[in-house]
Amino acid sequence: MNYPIWEVKGIGLPWVIGIIAIFHIMISHFAVGGGLYLALAEAKAIKEGRANWFPLLQAHSKFFLVLTGVFGAVSGVGIWFSIGLIQPEATSTLIHNFVFGWAIEWVFFIVELTSAAVYYYTWNRIPAALHLKVGWLYAISSICTLVIINGILTFMLTPGTTWLGVVGSGHESSYFWNAFFNPTYWPSLVLRTLVCISLAGVWALVTYSRLDDDSYGNAKTQLIRWSTKWLAPAFLLMPVTFLWYIMMVPDANKHLLELGMASIGQGSFTQVTRIALLSVMSTSTIAAVAYLFAYKFPKDFSPSHSIAILLLALAATGSTEYAREAIRKPFVIGSHMYSNSVRVRDVAKFNQDGYLTHSMWTPSGPSVSQHELGKAMFRGQCMSCHTENGYRSMKRFLEGRDAKAVGNILSMLRQNKSDSPYHAYMPPLVGKDEEVAALQAFLLSLNQTTSANAVAKR
Ligand code: HEC
Repeated sequence: MNYPIWEVKGIGLPWVIGIIAIFHIMISHFAVGGGLYLALAEAKAIKEGRANWFPLLQAHSKFFLVLTGVFGAVSGVGIWFSIGLIQPEATSTLIHNFVFGWAIEWVFFIVELTSAAVYYYTWNRIPAALHLKVGWLYAISSICTLVIINGILTFMLTPGTTWLGVVGSGHESSYFWNAFFNPTYWPSLVLRTLVCISLAGVWALVTYSRLDDDSYGNAKTQLIRWSTKWLAPAFLLMPVTFLWYIMMVPDANKHLLELGMASIGQGSFTQVTRIALLSVMSTSTIAAVAYLFAYKFPKDFSPSHSIAILLLALAATGSTEYAREAIRKPFVIGSHMYSNSVRVRDVAKFNQDGYLTHSMWTPSGPSVSQHELGKAMFRGQCMSCHTENGYRSMKRFLEGRDAKAVGNILSMLRQNKSDSPYHAYMPPLVGKDEEVAALQAFLLSLNQTTSANAVAKR
């Protein structure tokens, strides 16, 4: 443990990142797709002489600027804060590998934010052709932000054999491009592009639903029809692209998906499958609702309809991201670093020297109680996925299990045999015998009565 551990009771650490990330994804993908949308819509309006479209596009670009410039940027910074606090070790690895990637990303962010503002404030103030060029500048720079961040995101699931071959040698950053164009780079880029395009349509519906068709010479009807078409590519191509993506995912991770499918109904580890189904169902419902309400009756399309579609999109995004995170288990960086910041290559060292031995952040010395040591083990090795008594609650999982049963689970975790049921989604437990014993005592104390617990804490 090279860093202090942050504790969030209740929702737990995974959901702190999760909630900020899902919010950010809804907006950042719109930031990319919406740029393309505005540029193409304006080009079409100019070419076909649809002057009635301009006020609506102007309204949409204001909404776009506020949503992406304020909420998109703030939630992006929120992701930085939360991953820095929750996954400092992995964040450090990413920065060391991709520092220039991020430098380039920020250059594009600045171009993107500036051109979005210029685009909005220059409606009807500069010649139409020039205004459209600003729109294209925005669209292209925002696509570049996706092209770059996608390399870093996919790296976490599939760093690729070349990078994994040199990791630890100090030469990792010389293999920037191998890590960047990793096995899932291209399918993920196509998937995310489809998401960007469909979210551009969804958010455009939100803007137009608030307007009255008659005041704008039928522009509402025309633009809603045109916007629903933006949902079609995702709906048609997503399944194929998703299969392509899954093909590129290592077998070990795919196994987790299959494990979920095989055990459905048995209740053991079915979340991944349920979540994958949820994402398929919400996506098809969006297509149906968009067709039945927006495409067929654009004039009557109201804010409540658009909010319904938005919420469905939120469910689809949330569940897809959850599944993406879930198949990466038990790693935060595939085959290199477990979700609890333990590097695969350090497992033997921790077992020999002890896990808490070299940590600056754990209590040490003769006065330290076993309870404190056990808690430190829990915080370091389990809390990245579990809480004491909230999300994936240890208290609930261990309810009714005695010392022997808990000891069995821990030794299974420690041996981490490939046929262990836990192997697929939990990292190996590391440390010396006395550390594991302290963890066991701490875990048992969670289900003791409050008074017994208070005694144990003393
Ligand atoms: C990479 C994330 C991750 C880490 C780290 C992790 N777990 Fe888990 N654990 C899971 C998941 C996922 C489940 C399954 C949850 C479910 O079924 O709802 C689980 C389930 C469990 C269960 C219930 C198993 C059963 O058979 O009922 C126990 C007990 C458990 N974990 C203990 C631990 C302990 C102890 C640690 C720390 C040494 C730990 N876990 C670290 C992800 C993790």
